[in-house]
Amino acid sequence: MSDGEWTPVSTGEGLRVVLLLSGPNLNLLGEREPAIYGTDTLEDHVEAATDEAAKYGLTVEHVQSNHEGDLVDAVHWARERAVAIVVNPGAITHYGWSLHDALAAFDGPIVELHLSNTTGREPWRRTSVVAPVATGTIAGFGRLGYRLAMEAVADLLG
Ligand code: DQA
Repeated sequence: MSDGEWTPVSTGEGLRVVLLLSGPNLNLLGEREPAIYGTDTLEDHVEAATDEAAKYGLTVEHVQSNHEGDLVDAVHWARERAVAIVVNPGAITHYGWSLHDALAAFDGPIVELHLSNTTGREPWRRTSVVAPVATGTIAGFGRLGYRLAMEAVADLLG
């Protein structure tokens, strides 16, 4: 996705939209390091999140990009239209200060999500620049994490 290419689908009146944001390389899930990230595709995770969110009357808008600026643009979009953000920033987690700043300007619950247990892996993965602006983090639960994240959002929204 680059500026102008992404057309949000969930903009109807009265919808409670949750932006689900996926960072670099998550489009390769299913093929990419399955021993770490599992065999489900990103589409499978989005489906699980959408399904779980629907139980709470929430609509998921999903954006995946391999480019940090696109993720920033999506967060700006969410400022006007989404009630919460669930974000798996991929490797941008560990250095993406522009994403940090964009999320800091979002007024609502933010769940940081990782398939793997990032704190138990290489030392460089233990730093998250997103964590300081997230309401909380879910990591290490694989596919279940996407459902847990939507449950957390629903609970936080009340
Ligand atoms: C990840 C963990 C990151 O360290 C990594 O760069 C990813 C995926 C996860 O979901 O476990 O791309 O965010």
